[in-house]
Amino acid sequence: MTTSDTRTRPARAGSRRARPPGRVRRVNGPVVHLTGLGTPARLEFVEVGDDRLPGEIISLDRGEAVAQVYEHTGGLRVGEPAWAAGHPLSVHVGPGLLGGIYDGLLRPLTGGSDLLERRRLERPPEPAYRFTPRAEPGTVVGAGDVLGEFDGGAVRHLLLVPPGVAGTLDWLAEAGEHAAEEELARVAGHRVTAGHDWPVRRPRPATRTPDSRPLHTGQRAIDLLDPITAGSTATVIGGFGEGKTMLLEQVAKWGDADVIVYVGCGERGNELADLIEELEQLTDPRTGRGLVERTLILANTSNMPVMAREASIYTAMTVAEYYRDMGLHAVIIADSTSRWAEARRELSSRTGAVPAEHGYPPDLPMSLAAFYQRAGRVTTAAGGTGAVTIVTSVSPPGGDVTEPVSAHTQRFVQAVWSLDRELAYARHYPAVSWQRSFSRDVDAVARWYAVHGDPGWGERRARLLALLADADRLRDIADLVGRSAMPAEERVTMLAADLARAAVLQQSALSEHDATCSSAKQAALLQSALDVHDEALSLVRAGAPATLVEGFDLGPLVRAKDERGPDDADGVVAVAARVLAGLRELAP
Ligand SMILES: Nc1ncnc2c1ncn2[C@@H]1O[C@H](COP(=O)(O)OP(=O)(O)OP(=O)(O)O)[C@@H](O)[C@H]1O
Ligand SMILES: [Mg+2]
Repeated sequence: MTTSDTRTRPARAGSRRARPPGRVRRVNGPVVHLTGLGTPARLEFVEVGDDRLPGEIISLDRGEAVAQVYEHTGGLRVGEPAWAAGHPLSVHVGPGLLGGIYDGLLRPLTGGSDLLERRRLERPPEPAYRFTPRAEPGTVVGAGDVLGEFDGGAVRHLLLVPPGVAGTLDWLAEAGEHAAEEELARVAGHRVTAGHDWPVRRPRPATRTPDSRPLHTGQRAIDLLDPITAGSTATVIGGFGEGKTMLLEQVAKWGDADVIVYVGCGERGNELADLIEELEQLTDPRTGRGLVERTLILANTSNMPVMAREASIYTAMTVAEYYRDMGLHAVIIADSTSRWAEARRELSSRTGAVPAEHGYPPDLPMSLAAFYQRAGRVTTAAGGTGAVTIVTSVSPPGGDVTEPVSAHTQRFVQAVWSLDRELAYARHYPAVSWQRSFSRDVDAVARWYAVHGDPGWGERRARLLALLADADRLRDIADLVGRSAMPAEERVTMLAADLARAAVLQQSALSEHDATCSSAKQAALLQSALDVHDEALSLVRAGAPATLVEGFDLGPLVRAKDERGPDDADGVVAVAARVLAGLRELAP
């Protein structure tokens, strides 16, 4: 991924510096007390100190404003100036963002691999875009209507009438190269340029639609058991090292979205650098273009200012909504929301706020709820559908899922993909627990498959879950009495469940052929495990000894996922047919 500083410009501080500056009165880490700003609004954008560090006003008290600052305040001294901008924290959205790496305020970062270091851009670059008009001057247009299109990107990037603007299209630019700041259209006297500023905490207006389709992640443990729909919300909850980041990265790489907004929030910087490198190598199987071209990375890694984690979460949301409004499906991936919550906890301890559970601020549940509520599927003004899906991770300290961030997140998301320590220890990856995970979207997904060529999806899922649950129960008994003392039918049920775990649910992110898996191959793998179960049951019912069935080599089916390409459902079916024919020969 190249640094995108030639294609975009940093978040616009955009300060109206007409008002005289205030002064820094006290510096308490990222919390800075300011005087002389008059009466700024809560959450007004401020620039603090000679270096103009960005921040937001978080409280006001008798002429003194308290700001949270999004950069290191180490060099900041009492008495330095501060400016209130007259508007809330905003980012500049426009074409040319995809493929770039940014900080939490959408300022481009250099893409060096060992550290993602801020490059201070004194003067924003001035890119140009190829524009094609798609509207008729003289017609009446409203917010969200298509004015034109920018060529050359990985997605169909539209110029829309911005939110809040409507009226006669007075003028529209001609096809060709246009600089970023150039006027491209005028609507009822309002100047429309390629990009615009948007306050990150304010949801972009949208019309929700209940209409849904699955988000295919390519990960069988998710797609077969607890899938979500486009516009939905999910979280991966898992203890230290259980595979949260790997699973999120798999969704980022293989999820069938148009745009991925990946937020590295308080996690290790080297992981993010590795992800960027991998994305540069990979091709999107759907478009044939580089995966990196549809991805936008917001890096607020553990070595970066803690408070900007909050900004990065809202910035991601704003950027995703921007693409959603073009009729695209944007997926936000945030690793980890626990680090965001920790930043809020640090803030509230520094401001002396009365803490609630575990020291978190009392409004933590509200903030989480408001964040997840911004996900959804919408109807665009142009009649298309767009969506923002949110997939996050939660890292409960000590794996205790009753702690506040885990507990509240589970209330607000549609799906929880819970990682299981024992599976992770056994190197069963992804270590998604079939017992403790859930998705409220399962019925919607089953309905979608029913009318899109796979009416058996729901029943196969139900059989897989039942098989796994039966085997879990039987294994407890087998631990007591020994497998050999169990009835033959129970023994082949355990055998089939072992096969389902190894041949279907395990999926290595590092496998050449199996990192991702098409729906058809997923269905073929699962069906073959269920068919083996049926066949084994009829064998033992016909009198075949359980040991004979247990001794049969199911290896070809276990290896099929890695030996067959990600789309090769037919190949899997052929392997399964041979295995089943061999099994049938065991009939007494
Ligand atoms: N899907 C997978 N395929 C192959 N290996 C995996 C998979 N998931 C996890 N692993 C293995 O587990 C290790 C830890 O995974 P990961 O870093 O994703 O855990 P984590 O939960 O994000 O950890 P932390 O709590 O430190 O953030 C990986 O380095 C990898 O070896
Ligand atoms: Mg991790």
